Amino acid sequence: MEIRENAFVVCEAGVCRGVFDAVPERYGALEVIDCENLLVMPGMVDLHTHAPQYAFCGTGMDYELLTWLIRVTFPEELKYADAEYAAAAYDRFAQMMARSATTRAVIFGTRHAEATLMLMDRMEKSGLVSYVGKVNMDRCDPKALAEPSAAEAAADTRRFIEESLRREYRHTKPIVTPRFVPSCSDQLMAALGELRRTYGLPVQSHLSENPDEVELVRELAPWSAFYGDVYDHYGLFGGDCNTVMAHCVHSTPQEVQRLRDNGVWVAHCPSSNMNLSSGIAPIRRYMEQGLRVGLATDVAAGTSPSMFRATTDAIQLSKLYQRCMDGNARALTFPESFYLATKGGGSFFGRVGSFEEGYAFDAVVLDDSAGAPGEAMPVQERLQRAFYWELDRNGIVMKFADGERIF
Ligand code: GUN
Ligand code: FE
Repeated sequence: MEIRENAFVVCEAGVCRGVFDAVPERYGALEVIDCENLLVMPGMVDLHTHAPQYAFCGTGMDYELLTWLIRVTFPEELKYADAEYAAAAYDRFAQMMARSATTRAVIFGTRHAEATLMLMDRMEKSGLVSYVGKVNMDRCDPKALAEPSAAEAAADTRRFIEESLRREYRHTKPIVTPRFVPSCSDQLMAALGELRRTYGLPVQSHLSENPDEVELVRELAPWSAFYGDVYDHYGLFGGDCNTVMAHCVHSTPQEVQRLRDNGVWVAHCPSSNMNLSSGIAPIRRYMEQGLRVGLATDVAAGTSPSMFRATTDAIQLSKLYQRCMDGNARALTFPESFYLATKGGGSFFGRVGSFEEGYAFDAVVLDDSAGAPGEAMPVQERLQRAFYWELDRNGIVMKFADGERIF
């Protein structure tokens, strides 16, 4: 982490040109925005969240993963067959995202193509940059909660992809989204692998989140070497397609090695992992092992859409990991967790998450003057304090994504 005081960050044609003590002459014609006494930082990247779950975020938190999905989440997501319900809920989600410190996000919709396209319309209008996926789930007990067949799920996904590309969004792109292995038949996984090759799209899913889930995958795919091997078998696990897997709490050494070999991004979801008592992912270790890692809110298993909160939750959880799981592990520092929430996850989008030259210009400007006087405090401490105070609730005074001002 590098802190610069009383400096100028230059954005030209949507691209960051670096940070300077004075505006270089060649940029003399650019508009100057005065941010005196404010904190200017790269925008946050939420590498995994569920838009339809925002509406019930904070309820049903007494379960573990599989029960929570069947009793709370799947029934709620079924409501998105209703376009009116979806419109109202996604309006609220997009408004919340626009106001937040998040400038980029990788987002799950529901299994409904229509509603997920409505979500994309709203994300595009929000000014954020995002990947959005129509969820695939043709396997589930009770059956009533699943899509009717693999063929229909794949056909809906193809329709969703083609329509989203036809709309030529500037900031919003489709992503192939098998919900997770337990909810996708082999036939559907094969069809999704085919679709992602045909359209050259990235992939998002869940991996090794909960012990019962991992066991279920072992029963459903006894031929697989480990959970992630199932995605890999169908061409949905990195390599020539950008792939992000949420959680990776219970990944075996073999799975970790495949994650690294295939260049898969791990989306660490600390709030979610606490709420569903899924476990603690050894994130600091993953970084040491050379994995690509970012941070995520995972609303609604994660109960805050704030990436500030995700950043501080990750630190707290890594400290508990050290205390309770492995005394030799190192906890995350604030700069490390800040890195994960910006440049770490940002790399999924390309050159994103930093004010270095050539990076896309994503920025948020914070006013921390409401708190105790910050003038005497080092800037890094003011920034850290802003995160723990969740200053993103009401302290954001300006926001830019991909060089464009959102407010
Ligand atoms: N695994 C499959 N679906 C989900 C979901 O919606 N949330 C979480 N946390 N894990 C999942
Ligand atoms: Fe999730």
